[in-house]
Amino acid sequence: MITSTIHLAETILKNNGIIGFPTETVYGLAGSAFSDKAIHTIFQLKNRPHNNPLIVHIGSVHQLEGIVREIPPKANVLINQFWPGPLTLLLKKSSRISDLVTAGQDTVAIRMPSHPLALELLNSIDFPLVAPSANPYQSISPTMPKHVDSYFGAKIPLILDGGPCNKGIESTIVGFEGDQVIVYRLGAITLEDLESCVGTLLENNKSHEKIKSPGMAKKHYSPKTPLLCSSFIRNDIQKYVSKKIAVVYFDELDDLESNEGIDYYSFQGDLQHASANLYGLLHDLDSRNYDLIIIEKFPDLDLGKTLNDRLERASFKD
Ligand code: TXA
Ligand code: MG
Repeated sequence: MITSTIHLAETILKNNGIIGFPTETVYGLAGSAFSDKAIHTIFQLKNRPHNNPLIVHIGSVHQLEGIVREIPPKANVLINQFWPGPLTLLLKKSSRISDLVTAGQDTVAIRMPSHPLALELLNSIDFPLVAPSANPYQSISPTMPKHVDSYFGAKIPLILDGGPCNKGIESTIVGFEGDQVIVYRLGAITLEDLESCVGTLLENNKSHEKIKSPGMAKKHYSPKTPLLCSSFIRNDIQKYVSKKIAVVYFDELDDLESNEGIDYYSFQGDLQHASANLYGLLHDLDSRNYDLIIIEKFPDLDLGKTLNDRLERASFKD
């Protein structure tokens, strides 16, 4: 059932059930963060390895009290600036959060989404919600109710319809070590946004392998159709010209190769537009039997960095 009222969703969640849950980033598969049964069901539905922890969603800052042990000063600054919104914080968990949620880690990932229906639901129940993206492990995240329906329709009782996700890309994840802010996943809040708020950031690269975000596996977010992220789009069109291909370019391309087997799509040079629509376009293209999807690499700044990160994980290596 797809509905935009929250009453039935509340009842299902109170009874340890799972729903499709709209946020401003992507749709989640949500269940009570305090229900082992709900958490087990989520892992099972997604076919997700148990060592990959879940994000806890809250509807007000007061809810942090029961679930974390401390809030570092820079976390407070970020909360004031970006919540509700697409920023996830890794904070030391209290005993109220089970090891099933955090995959045994001492930190729990928490965010307050800004989607009005998500907030309405979260504030109508007295427990937080765990919600990983509502896609099977390693496939493309859903940004519309119909995507969730096609992945899980028969297996979940309800999808809460909040329309298309306006950010369209997952939340940014940061953690804290001493006075340092460490970026674990690029997302809808840009590095530039974060830096202007808390100064220099550390990126979670190899020198920071101590704490891992297992979901940051090299392969992720993949369509079934092979996808190529291209820095030299004209060369790659030439190389694959004999195949049925979808070419997605960022801004404008002059003198396009016109060929019956090639379809073109453009993001009109707008990174926000690209972020809001990239996953939706991939879902769509994936259903059209192309041999290959070629996407032009985005400019390497702001949301372009996040989009390039996702494309790299979604790409095949030829
Ligand atoms: O935008 C989002 O964050 C969406 C919406 C639904 O809120 N959720 C989402 O969840 O993207 P998921 O499960 O698909 O991705 C969560 C990522 C995973 O890579 C996971 O490994 C990481 O967060 N993560 C969760 N808890 C963690 C923790 N305690 N320490 C390190 N990484 C963590
Ligand atoms: Mg995910």
